[in-house]
Amino acid sequence: MNGPLIQARERLSASRRVAVLTGAGISAESGMPTFRGADGLWRDFRPEQLATPEAFSRDPKLVWEWYDWRRERVARCVPNAGHLALARLEHRHGAVTLVTQNVDGLHALAGSLQPVEMHGNIWKARCTACHRVAEDRRVPIPIPPACGICGGMLRPHIVWFGESLEGEVLERAFGAFEYCDVALIVGTSGQVQPAASLAGVARQNGAFVIEVNREPTPHSALADVSLMGAAGDILPRLIPE
Ligand code: OAD
Repeated sequence: MNGPLIQARERLSASRRVAVLTGAGISAESGMPTFRGADGLWRDFRPEQLATPEAFSRDPKLVWEWYDWRRERVARCVPNAGHLALARLEHRHGAVTLVTQNVDGLHALAGSLQPVEMHGNIWKARCTACHRVAEDRRVPIPIPPACGICGGMLRPHIVWFGESLEGEVLERAFGAFEYCDVALIVGTSGQVQPAASLAGVARQNGAFVIEVNREPTPHSALADVSLMGAAGDILPRLIPE
């Protein structure tokens, strides 16, 4: 085992509070495409055509078709060794907050107790009329789907570009990174705010920052240790059974 991995492992076992941030990279080995990589979703699709409130007002059917396609893909995925290692850390350590930008729900499926889902969840829909949020696991989903309570049109319960994150979600995410002594940043390109600021907040408050990614990112410069490789390979070695 190499030096940086040993150092990161020791820091993690000696830590009092851990904050974890994950991005699309942790689900890549489960079969979910990332957004910005060579096979990333944003190479074939333009975010402004599919992941903005304007796109939904213009063409709700198109937006729902895209989410239906992604839901169908997520439904076929299972958590990988990386998700399972993080769930293990959470259960064993007792003071871990897991924050994810992913909407696929795979952390919860792996056994993480209360992941902070910054960008929402692909299995939830929200009524555009009465604003009720409800779980909806229909695959395929009737397009466009209607609210069971008021009949209004449902939209995916996802934070789109140009929309604000919920206050409580922001508080939980920023609180976790402000007060942690070890921050673990996994599989994110660090290009989307406000998630991209979390590692810096931890660093400013004296935390030890560990990055796990297949390639260098803007986080690499501030990380104390950058572990380059696949999350499904590195995380089980960082958090052994
Ligand atoms: P990106 O697609 O921007 O970045 C994925 C990162 O994962 C890259 O840095 C890859 O190098 C890394 N990666 C790929 N495979 C990996 C593996 N097996 N192990 C470790 N790392 C790997 O995804 P995010 O940073 O999550 O927003 O993107 C942030 C947000 O942009 C998403 O939440 C989404 C998107 O627009 C919304 O849907 C609102």
